[in-house]
Amino acid sequence: MKKLFLTGLVSLLIISCSKKENIPSDTTISDVSSGPAKSDLSGDQIIETLDCSGCHAVNERMIGPSYKEIAEKYSEKDIELLASKIIEGGSGVWGNVPMSAHPQVSKEEAKKMVQYILSQKK
Ligand code: HEC
Repeated sequence: MKKLFLTGLVSLLIISCSKKENIPSDTTISDVSSGPAKSDLSGDQIIETLDCSGCHAVNERMIGPSYKEIAEKYSEKDIELLASKIIEGGSGVWGNVPMSAHPQVSKEEAKKMVQYILSQKK
């Protein structure tokens, strides 16, 4: 009985030691902070991971203009401009309500979102 207890204790110690050794090698800091690679996502999928839908809808004006309205106002040549606006935020084009900045978004991701928004034209 006592022997069994000791064997259990020893194997428990071995398990907990080997676990400890595994933690630093398995989880690097960049794994934790970067999450899934957004560059693999399409424009509408990136929009879903962000707060855009809180202020924008495809057909209806909410706090911000609808994607349809944006698509009708702009064309392919404005992609760069609109991508910067998503990253930096701003106001004055549709009214006085400001659009929040999204500094966590890369230029490439912002352009994909703009392309999706512009594709909502009737
Ligand atoms: C806090 C509310 C809010 C959020 C969140 C928000 N927007 Fe906006 N958005 C606005 C407002 C308000 C405007 C109009 C700004 C103006 O008049 O210049 C706007 C304008 C825009 C425009 C047109 C810019 C222009 O200069 O005409 C685009 C494109 C856009 N938003 C995309 C997005 C995307 C993509 C996201 C998510 C990353 C997003 N918005 C998140 C409120 C928001």
